[in-house]
Amino acid sequence: MSSTISAEDIACIVSQTLQQYNPSKGFTFRSPAVTVTGPHCVNQLGEILKEFGARHVLLVVDKMVHQLGLVAGCETAIKIAGLGLTVFKDVEGEPDTAMITKGVAALKASGADFVVGVGGGSALDAAKGIAVLGDYQGPLVEFKAGGLASRTVGLGAIPTTAGTGSEATDITVIKDLANNIKVPIKGACLVPDFALLDPALMLGVPSSITAATGVDTLTHAIEAYVSRQTNPLSQAYAYHSMEMLVKALPIAVGCGEDMDMRYDMSIAAYKAGLAFSNAGLGLAHAIAHQIGAFYNIPHGVANAILLPYVMAFNSLCCEPAYAELAGALNVNRESMTQRERCNAAIKAVRQIVIDLGLPTTLVDFDVAKRDFAGIAERAMQDICLIGNPRQVSASQIVALLEQALSGELPLGDC
Ligand SMILES: [Fe+2]
Repeated sequence: MSSTISAEDIACIVSQTLQQYNPSKGFTFRSPAVTVTGPHCVNQLGEILKEFGARHVLLVVDKMVHQLGLVAGCETAIKIAGLGLTVFKDVEGEPDTAMITKGVAALKASGADFVVGVGGGSALDAAKGIAVLGDYQGPLVEFKAGGLASRTVGLGAIPTTAGTGSEATDITVIKDLANNIKVPIKGACLVPDFALLDPALMLGVPSSITAATGVDTLTHAIEAYVSRQTNPLSQAYAYHSMEMLVKALPIAVGCGEDMDMRYDMSIAAYKAGLAFSNAGLGLAHAIAHQIGAFYNIPHGVANAILLPYVMAFNSLCCEPAYAELAGALNVNRESMTQRERCNAAIKAVRQIVIDLGLPTTLVDFDVAKRDFAGIAERAMQDICLIGNPRQVSASQIVALLEQALSGELPLGDC
């Protein structure tokens, strides 16, 4: 009997394998190809860029970050490596279409083949927009970010705050000035080629911003952990992000010069970014985007207010997952029932917000109940709602906003 396998047999095996592939049982996970971390690791920037074959670099930086001198190390490292350098320092506030157009012009004029964002989430999002939008002239809402090959320049990210996780994600948000809307753009080409996490760049971040951006990280981790689109890798990153954050964030807020805690927060933010980039977010972000725009509430503060109410709402569908998170949040007790662990996790999140001096209600933000229906309608259209574990209606979002205004968290005594 012959032991050879015919070409027909192989074709049959391949065909069966393809038919049996079940996408719901698999997932794709994307992350930067290279991650460099540690105090003063910015000194390695030139060598990293050379590894990627860069010849001329466009640094896209926050104006304030540049004025504070935080980009000097990056500039020096690039020059020592013998690479060309152009600095685009017109990032002020969140990126919009005018800023991106200006940045694309700077990219073309410089002939740079690598874009590196340095700053908070706005600078990193601007760098991503400049790197991928290029000659695109159409409406921003119709722009489709493609795969890795659709970006013709390299992309690096150096965060100076620990929060948005943009250095890890496949997302950027650009404001379309023509239509006065923020447009989220998602695609594999938006994942940076490298992320460089240097906590020395974060030592001077004011405590209030450290607190708000830190709770943004916590919200990323919790929403990614329970997302409908979550996966085992995202859950692992999210859980460990929370474990690091509960220890590091209070000290980073109370003693901003603590390099170890700044380092841990840089890693926690990165892990949470990896988690949600590959798993999606949820209702807290869907509402936070709206109240942030409507009442000019900083993103991290909006999440800090909303997260406990959203967790209480979602607990109907994800009590076991929240109960697991009681361990990461360090409030797990062996004698507790699952319901008690779940509620303990929600209360722990609210206590973190209180301890950090962030608001727990909307009461100080000059909000009006008559606005809530419109805000709810917009939240229903937000892309982040796709990941939320519990289905939600506009009237339920209005009820959540009313809870957030009154400050009454609907949990039992346990
Ligand atoms: Fe966020």
